[in-house]
Amino acid sequence: MKHLKTGRATLALAALLALPGVGGAQEMVNAEAYRAALQDKFANPGTMVGDRGETLFKTPRGPKNASLEKCDFGLGAGKLAGAYAQLPRYFKDSGKVEDLESRLVTCMIKLQGFSHDEVTRKVFGDQTKNESNTDIEAIAMYVASQSDGMPINPPLKHAKEKEALKMGEALFYTRHGPMDFSCKTCHGEDGKRIRLQELGNYASNRKNAQDTMKTWPTYRVSHGMVRTLQSRMWDCNWQMRLPDLAYGSPASVALISYLSQQAKGVALDLPGMKR
Ligand code: HEC
Repeated sequence: MKHLKTGRATLALAALLALPGVGGAQEMVNAEAYRAALQDKFANPGTMVGDRGETLFKTPRGPKNASLEKCDFGLGAGKLAGAYAQLPRYFKDSGKVEDLESRLVTCMIKLQGFSHDEVTRKVFGDQTKNESNTDIEAIAMYVASQSDGMPINPPLKHAKEKEALKMGEALFYTRHGPMDFSCKTCHGEDGKRIRLQELGNYASNRKNAQDTMKTWPTYRVSHGMVRTLQSRMWDCNWQMRLPDLAYGSPASVALISYLSQQAKGVALDLPGMKR
């Protein structure tokens, strides 16, 4: 049954991808059908990436030959169910607010003995070079998927959590860089688009923020691999022609804190799948 469904959805997707671009209105219709086809979870290759992440998560690795099973994502060592839904949050051991990916970096350093450079040297698979997902992308998908169905609800009690939200909000609204863009320039009004891509309004439209955030990490069809929030923040930063956003940096975590607070309350729908 599951298998049949996969086949059907994959065929539907393939058919849609094969459609030639014909005129504006028709393209909009195709885009709608394409988006609908992306909703089928049984056809989501992100699940397989998460499976690889699970193996990596449970395998002893690094100089300390330890697995990540003792990593505390905020609900206690090794407690994964619902943990991603409550990130970013403040961690006493690192003294920082961490999102999923910066937390993984912390655990890989502390538990497994890797250096920061080893962990962050290559974090995103490059689709233009036909690469696959990196280990950390696969592990992030696995950990996040353990919160499927749970409402996004990061805590906002600790002073550093409030500070991260404030910083994220400031970054979202402040115009900077050579193009004088802010996030709000593209993501601050309802119904904005660049070509066929809808640009969510994360300034004042809660539903937009929720629809977006509930499906990250996501399998990105046009890249043929899983993409995480850190990579999305890096990409939009690049679109603003700003210097590279460092993986897990305070600025990246602050932006994710802001977006997660804007999306609060919606149930995660993982793994996501996007164009
Ligand atoms: C120049 C316009 C532009 C700016 C400025 C910009 N973005 Fe984006 N953003 C985009 C585009 C284009 C997409 C991709 C839409 C697609 O591929 O479907 C996107 C996608 C996203 C997504 C994922 C949307 C989804 O459907 O999952 C998030 C989240 C996001 N941006 C956040 C930000 C944040 C935070 C900033 C500021 C640091 C920012 N963006 C700045 C254009 C922009």
